[in-house]
Amino acid sequence: MRAAILGAGYVGACTAAVLAEQGHQVIVADPDKERVMALAAGRAPVYEPGLDDALAMARASGRLSATTSTADAVDASDVTLLCVGTPPKPDGSQDLKFLKAASQQVGQALRSKPWHCVIVKSTVLPGTTEDVVAREVAKASGLQAGEGFGVAVNPEFLREGSALSDARAPDRIVVGQLDEASGKAAWALWEGLPGKRLTTDLATAELIKVASNAFLAAKVGLANDVANVAAAVGVDAAKVMEGVGLDARIGPQFLRFGAGFGGSCFPKDVRALVSLGKRVKKPSRILAAVLEANDAQPLEAVRLAREALGTLKGKRIALLGLAFKPDTDDVRETRALPLWQALTKAGATVICFDPRASENFRKLAPKAKLAASALDALEGADCAIVQAEWSEFRALAPAEFKRRMRRPLVVDARRALDAARLRGGGVEYRAIGLGERQV
Ligand code: UGA
Repeated sequence: MRAAILGAGYVGACTAAVLAEQGHQVIVADPDKERVMALAAGRAPVYEPGLDDALAMARASGRLSATTSTADAVDASDVTLLCVGTPPKPDGSQDLKFLKAASQQVGQALRSKPWHCVIVKSTVLPGTTEDVVAREVAKASGLQAGEGFGVAVNPEFLREGSALSDARAPDRIVVGQLDEASGKAAWALWEGLPGKRLTTDLATAELIKVASNAFLAAKVGLANDVANVAAAVGVDAAKVMEGVGLDARIGPQFLRFGAGFGGSCFPKDVRALVSLGKRVKKPSRILAAVLEANDAQPLEAVRLAREALGTLKGKRIALLGLAFKPDTDDVRETRALPLWQALTKAGATVICFDPRASENFRKLAPKAKLAASALDALEGADCAIVQAEWSEFRALAPAEFKRRMRRPLVVDARRALDAARLRGGGVEYRAIGLGERQV
């Protein structure tokens, strides 16, 4: 098929790479010239492991191109996938301005085209595709949804950091269809991929996406709650979660407790569902509590540091890991920000480091002091807090903590490091969820 992809973020770029691998002809449109130039040269417009190579291959195969013109992309295609952002507004609801604008542009381009299917990959609340996308396309094109053009919802379940492998080997593919022709066009894109398949109506597919993120966020939130209790009663939550995860009904994934969840999806989608619940007068008390608990969770790491140091005032703290999770440069909703704020407010000097996300973190916290390496951040520190489980932090030798730090104290807010190895090397190790009952 010939597919236009609107939006060159990590969803658009990974989708483009995989569609091209599947033999489709792909043209990506984005108003950002730099992103388009990167794609046109077969380079990744965002940092995502493996994406550079995949896009270079796609480019070399002649099946990938990029443009700043939505009209040109739509004109050269049979289907258009909307992969634009739906960022949160201050009240938690989704800002649909990019989606609206893209829909209008698609509509204009469809005026002179035969039947074309518009597929929504952006995460939206139930009703949005019909009420906003289909309506705007219809208005701008003068065509009717279901007649002049098709509409489908094809949510993405990619995780940043492993987006490409997730896109190549999805657990499941969900297509919400306005009518059979729309569903057929959407399914034709993914014929070659594995994964369970589910066809629904538009609103159901939309809700499957946000509900999945809400479930996973709540699972992490529950793991954090249990971890805090475990530590308080002297039990190691890592073992508890290992046991809990053995229950096939629960499963071992998303039980990693720590400083809380961040990223562009969990906080935003949970908030969006909470705000939808309010709007339809079915308030989600559970999800509201998940958000509240998640806001408090980074403070557990601050508490551990304070407990060990007596006071944070005048102390030098190395904050390792600024991205919202490892293997990404994305700092959206990163727990490093509330950590940095709380530590700074308590009078500590915070030296920050991340292998990829330092520059992005500076945009969030312009006053943040950034070190050039993890080792530099440790220099003279009274405590190191690990906020993201980058493998390079795990590889740090205990001797480096001892040699460089004023006090070799590690607070592991992600249970990322090897406690026995560090302690064996003379490092003080404390961690969220680590209760050590003396028996
Ligand atoms: C999440 C979902 O996992 C994807 O399925 C979905 O497609 C994506 O959102 C989206 O809506 O676009 P992502 O935000 O990239 O993916 O990252 P996750 O790996 O899910 O992690 C989210 C946050 O939860 C991170 O801050 C991570 O550190 C935290 N987390 C995750 C935990 O604290 N514990 C865990 O066990 C798992």
